[in-house]
Amino acid sequence: MDQKSQHLEHERGSWGSNFGFLMAAVGSAVGLGNIWGFPYKMGMTGGFAFLIVYLILVVVVGCVVMLGELALGRKTGRGAVGAYMQFSKKHKWVGFLGVIAGFCLLAFYNVLGGMVMRYMFGFFFEVVGIDGFAGQGTGFFGFLLYDYGGMLFFHVLFVIINILIVMGGVESGIEKFSSVAMPALFFILLFVVVYIAFQDGAAEGYAFMFKPDFSAMSGFSGFLNVLKTAAGQMFFSLSLGMGCMITYGSYLDKKEDLQKNAIIIPACDTLIAIMAGMAVLPACAAYDVPYASGPGLLFTSMQQVFTNMGEFGAFVGFLFYFLVFIAAVTSSISLLEVVCTYRIDRAIDKGVKPNRQKITCIAAGLIFVVGLPVALDALGSGGAIFPAPFEIIGYQAAEGYKVPMAIDCWLDFFDTISEGVLMPFGALAMSVLIGWVYKTKKAVVPECEQAGHKFWGYGFFNVCFKFIVPAIMILVLVAQVIDFFVPKPL
Ligand code: PHE
Repeated sequence: MDQKSQHLEHERGSWGSNFGFLMAAVGSAVGLGNIWGFPYKMGMTGGFAFLIVYLILVVVVGCVVMLGELALGRKTGRGAVGAYMQFSKKHKWVGFLGVIAGFCLLAFYNVLGGMVMRYMFGFFFEVVGIDGFAGQGTGFFGFLLYDYGGMLFFHVLFVIINILIVMGGVESGIEKFSSVAMPALFFILLFVVVYIAFQDGAAEGYAFMFKPDFSAMSGFSGFLNVLKTAAGQMFFSLSLGMGCMITYGSYLDKKEDLQKNAIIIPACDTLIAIMAGMAVLPACAAYDVPYASGPGLLFTSMQQVFTNMGEFGAFVGFLFYFLVFIAAVTSSISLLEVVCTYRIDRAIDKGVKPNRQKITCIAAGLIFVVGLPVALDALGSGGAIFPAPFEIIGYQAAEGYKVPMAIDCWLDFFDTISEGVLMPFGALAMSVLIGWVYKTKKAVVPECEQAGHKFWGYGFFNVCFKFIVPAIMILVLVAQVIDFFVPKPL
């Protein structure tokens, strides 16, 4: 690095404290994946059996990839692309795939964030006496999808909120926001969990989650199904495989204990996912809404729950969507940061002072434009102002089969590229590079032993990097590709 670049290093920014870093990293991890994906996948995959497999995977894959990413980031002081480049120019593409994954993920995450805001405001107006939202019942979801003005308005609003936070920088933007928002999210969720616990019929939901029942895992294919669903959910929920934690790790002070942080973040993320399950599943049980209602859970099912709840339904509904909104923003800013950091690092490496404001606006603007079809195709329900991918290419589903997920709507299209392919591939590439090419001893150990910290987990982490993570990530990659590309029966 030449002198000029060195002089510019502080332009990247850094976390003000370890607590601030943790709030930002947990904020990235805790997102729609926890509050939406976790309960619905648990609902569809047999409750308790899913939970147990999930917990094991968090330990043997989640914490390991987390540590690997944080170590790569902090060691090199660079985001996704720059970090791999410091090891070898030949590996730069792994980082690039991460930036592309972040870009595609954010293209649809922004739209979902906007929809969550729409529900949040809907219940808010209901609370302050402007009626009409709850009364529309679950039909509202279908209405919203074709209400292009509404979809666009909230999409724009969500993107602007993201820009304002990320423009503020690492410490005064992301860290400041997360340090207030994450504790708030925790207490609101706690309130909702306790409130739901007092509703008649909630107990059935807890039994579903916690009563030992392994029937979903009967037979090898049953086991494989639980394993792949839990593994896919786990690494998405922990924001792994696309350089997000590399980026956040690159802003962390050398004196902080990396191993401890790599355990705390997954632990908090898992706690919030279980709490979300304890809010959503018992609520469904109490108000006669089926658990396994799939992706519609966050919008239609939960709205039904709050409508059936009666007197306090609108207020609890508002709180619920408010906390989902917080979860979505703290995740989307981490995605935007991955893309921005790539440009910021590049400027610094060229000896040019980076303009964070400008970079943030351009990146967010581009992602917004790419996300427009997601907001305008009515999730592929047909007859929308913007055609879904399968409509554009004129794909005809075979008799009795659905259109493959990869092309059934733009949301699933971008999800296929990011969550389906690039993220599991990124986690696989990272663990192979650390375990076999850079070597855990060189790439991770020195970082974990900074400032006299003890790296007591070396043996465990090393075996996981070399064998366990690659094996599980190959399984996830194959399973996701099949899930997204192979047409399913109707
Ligand atoms: N972890 C986030 C969630 O659970 C999603 C995410 C993935 C965010 C990758 C950043 C990076 O919703």
